[in-house]
Formats: sequence, structure tokens, C-alpha cells
Amino acid sequence: MIDLGTYGAAFFTDPYSVYAELRAKGPVHRVRLPRGEEVWLVVGYEEARAALADPRLSKSWQRASGSEIEGVMGDHMLTTDPPQHTRLRRLVAREFTTRRVEALRPRVQEITDELLAALPTSGSIDLVDAFAFPLPITVICELLGVPSLDRVAFRAMSNAMLAPSNGVASRQAAAVPMRDYLDELIDRKSTEPGDDLFSALIRTTDEDGDRLSRTELRAMAFLLLVAGHETTVNLIANGVLALLTHPEQLAALTADWSLLDGAIEETLRYDGPVQNATSRFTLEPVEIGGVTIPAGGETVLVVLGSADRDPDRFPGGDDFDIRRPHGGHLAFGHGVHFCLGAPLARLEGRVALRSLLERHPDLALDVDPAALSWRSSLLVRGLAALPVRPGPARVPGAAVRG
Ligand code: HEM
Repeated sequence: MIDLGTYGAAFFTDPYSVYAELRAKGPVHRVRLPRGEEVWLVVGYEEARAALADPRLSKSWQRASGSEIEGVMGDHMLTTDPPQHTRLRRLVAREFTTRRVEALRPRVQEITDELLAALPTSGSIDLVDAFAFPLPITVICELLGVPSLDRVAFRAMSNAMLAPSNGVASRQAAAVPMRDYLDELIDRKSTEPGDDLFSALIRTTDEDGDRLSRTELRAMAFLLLVAGHETTVNLIANGVLALLTHPEQLAALTADWSLLDGAIEETLRYDGPVQNATSRFTLEPVEIGGVTIPAGGETVLVVLGSADRDPDRFPGGDDFDIRRPHGGHLAFGHGVHFCLGAPLARLEGRVALRSLLERHPDLALDVDPAALSWRSSLLVRGLAALPVRPGPARVPGAAVRG
């Protein structure tokens, strides 16, 4: 049994060397997590991809053998299997369309420009707090039509619910104010609908008359808001960090913006915002990579961050190379649960990186990279803070770019 707790805080600072050690021993391992539970980790690329699409691995908490009982927020797409999942996804996909995302592009640019205009041009700032965090949360709130969301309170509730140090009971307790908050929001949106996604979800009805119940709406809003809070922030911050610590890659990008998509995809692969896919539970014995994981609700964690560094799939996987042929990484998952927000996250990442680097060509880290503090979460890979010196601004005013 491998005990990840023995690595201490070093595991969160640099999980990749631990994953490399594990991959060298095999693609699947039984491990003890830092907070004590025993789970199965899938660390090889091929095995991870197969596991993500394996219907014998359920997403339903009710299937878990251990204490992983959630449910206070009701079932949503990441806690259900087909056909329930198919139904929920169909109802939201009707409204969360590429067109709706594309329509947000000018607003994403505007919000970005406003945040950048507010950055001080001298001294040190925390780029997470001043830019990477507020951008996606402002966008997701506008998309859902909740611009008045009390972000400080919401962030505190969301962090309390996801905090790894909290046990199930305290995470459930933290979910109560969140549930009340979302109920209030649904009431308000039902009586004062707008042309936002939330109002559309309340209104939407499938051809056969199917629609989301109140519990489903609440769970859906919760999932979208948390996904908007906890992920894209790390795409932006991890991308800036990777570029600042690889000056030759940064120079190539700022000299040729056609490399921008490559920089985003490589950030997703090299230091993706979501380290582990959400828990899956065995419905029957499942053989993965020569290891048989028993039936009965064993918890399986698919380590996206390890799969995407697997040298068998990505030669030189520990190198950050924005010219690497992109495609194939698992940062957004794979299979029926593939990230619904991927087009929005990519759009925000592109606009954020380009606008920041164009406006602040002298942007520099204000910390030794080894001293950076990472959030101690198994789910997200994110910096607690990213101290930088922005330097003088070059582009005054806002400009909408195609
Ligand atoms: C760079 C940012 C993001 C990353 C890396 C990311 C990653 C992921 C991953 C890995 C999954 C699959 C989890 C699993 O299979 O266990 C997922 C699912 C999902 N994501 Fe994202 N996500 C991001 C941004 C977003 C945003 C901005 C939204 C919403 C606006 C969003 C909404 C969702 C939803 C609703 C699901 C569940 C889909 C389903 O179960 O069918 N994500 N995401």
C-alpha cells in the first residue's frame, strides 16, 4: 500500500514526481490518500482514458462502499450515470450552446480589460486575486444571470464544501447555507426571468415535455457555479506561471500569437486545473492495466495530471512545449462526462493570456517558483497566490479582438 500522506506538503507542491514514481511501478495502484481513505489511482494514460469511459465505474455516490455520501445538493451531472445523466445533460446542452458561449466573447474581453486596467503598474500583486479568480467568476455569473452574487460569501461556502481537510459531516453542514442561497436565487429567477442561462434552464422543456425539477435546478446551478469558480482560475494562473518560468516559450508566443491555442492546450496538459477526475465507484470487478479492482463500490480516482504526463503518450511529457501537437490530453475528461464548459474555459484562457501579456510585456514573477504555495486539494491543481510585478502597461483602453 502506497501512503501519499508520507510525502507531506511536497505532494501538493510537486505531485508530478510522485506520479512519475507511481507510473514507473504500474498504471494502477491502491493508495492511502493524505486524509486517510484508501482508493485506487489510475495513473497511466491509456488506462485513464479507458477508465473515464467505462460504464462499470459509476458516478453515483449511492454506489460508494465508504463514507463518501454527499447528496445534500441533490444529484447533478457529475453524480449520475446514464440514463439519468443523459437526460440532465440533454436539458442543459440545449441551452448552454456554442452560440451562447460565442455571444459572450465581447463581454469576456471587456471584463478582462476592466480587470487589467485596474492592475497597479508598479510593485507586487497577487495575480490570482487580482485577475485569474475574478475573471471566470464574473463570466459565469453573467452567463447564469446572477451578477449580484455575493462572491466573497459564495467563495467561502464553495471552499468549505470542497476543503479536503473537512470530513463529510462538515462538508454537508457547509452545504446548507449554499442550498438556501441557491433556492432564493431560483425563486428570484422564476419571478423575474432574464435572457440568461439560469432563466433558460428554468424555462426549458424537452420535446417530450421533460424539464428540470427544483432540486435538479439547484444542483445544476451549484455545479455550474463551482465549475466556474474552481477551474478556469487555475488555467489562467498555471498558464502564466508556466510561461514565466519558460521564457523561451513566452518569447515565441508573444512573437507569434498563432501559438496561443497551443499555449492553452499545453497548459491544460502540462499543469491542468483538475488533477483528478471526480470519484468513480466499481459496480463489478474491473480489470485495468492488469490490476483487478474489486466490485462493491471501491473508489477509483483517475489522475488526469498523471495521464497527461505519461511519456508513452506524450514523449518528453515533463517539458512545457507550446508547439507540441495538441489534442489527446485528458484535462477536460473523456466520455459522457467530458467537460461541458470546455469551450467557455478555452475562450476565457485565450482572451486572458493574450490580453495580459500584450498589456504587460514586462510581467515578471515576484517569487522564487519553489516558494509558491499550492492549494492542498486532490481535485484542483491551483496556486494559493501568484505574486508578480506587472510592469508598465502598453495597451491603453479596451479593444475587442476576434
Ligand atoms: C479550464 C477549466 C476547466 C477544466 C480543466 C474542467 C475540467 C473538467 C473535467 C475533467 C470534467 C470531467 C470530470 C469527471 O469526469 O469526473 C468536467 C466536467 C464538467 N465541467 Fe468542466 N472544467 C473546466 C471549466 C468548466 C466551466 C467553466 C464549466 C461551466 C461553465 C464547466 C462545467 C462542467 C460540467 C457541467 C461538467 C460535468 C459534465 C458531465 O458530467 O456531463 N467546466 N470538467
